[in-house]
Amino acid sequence: MIEASKMVVERGGNTVLNQLDLSLGPKQILALIGGNGAGKSTTILALLGLIPLAGGDAQVLGKSVRSGADSIRAQTGYLPEQAALYDHLSASENAAYFLSLAGVETSAASIEDAFVRVDLPKRAWDARASTFSKGMRQKVAIATCLLRETPLILFDEPTSGLDPAAIDDFHRLIENLREGGTSVLMVTHDLFGASETADKILLLSQGRRVGDFDRGSDGFDSGAIRAAFSAANEVA
Ligand SMILES: Nc1ncnc2c1ncn2[C@@H]1O[C@H](COP(=O)(O)OP(=O)(O)OP(=O)(O)O)[C@@H](O)[C@H]1O
Ligand SMILES: [Mg+2]
Repeated sequence: MIEASKMVVERGGNTVLNQLDLSLGPKQILALIGGNGAGKSTTILALLGLIPLAGGDAQVLGKSVRSGADSIRAQTGYLPEQAALYDHLSASENAAYFLSLAGVETSAASIEDAFVRVDLPKRAWDARASTFSKGMRQKVAIATCLLRETPLILFDEPTSGLDPAAIDDFHRLIENLREGGTSVLMVTHDLFGASETADKILLLSQGRRVGDFDRGSDGFDSGAIRAAFSAANEVA
């Protein structure tokens, strides 16, 4: 689904992705972790062709980000780090509006279905987004992302703003997506959540891949992940 090789991204005169390799297979969940400024959001933007590569390449759903970004974006769900909603529209209207922009046909019933999947309280469905908490906004954005029914979803800090029960629900949700054949790349600061659900965990520091962990038969070695995370942030 994703095969990135030696990606280099320069921003503001700095190298923020440095020869980054990354791969994500079908029906896999990859968690991308790392300290603030490590290059996680930049990786997602580069994979969507939203910022140019200064070196290397990435194949996403069989297309190069250098030449096929439109097609990649049409087939890839994306939850931005700061999911924006229109305050004067309701949850349902926001979802319908963003889906129409993406050229996705949907029905009121499927929007409600997605709200149930993310456990957005029913009273919020027709309320204006200006009255929503951060977590409710996040749930609307996640629901909208799901409604696109893409084979690949890139989530940038999907659990930020969610309460512990909603975080657990989110992890079950992406496990269900994986069972249904979707591949997921998830940027997260939640090491525990990542090790609960992911198949692979990749640690970034200063735009480089400094750790690469696979789920073993007993799950992840969370001590090793924490140690690598701390070591990466000490030198950063
Ligand atoms: N628009 C920009 N112009 C210049 N530099 C940028 C820009 N956006 C990000 N950067 C730099 O790129 C580097 C990587 O940023 P990025 O947003 O990818 O980090 P991140 O890992 O997502 O961090 P966080 O956990 O804080 O979200 C940082 O050093 C940041 O300062
Ligand atoms: Mg980020």
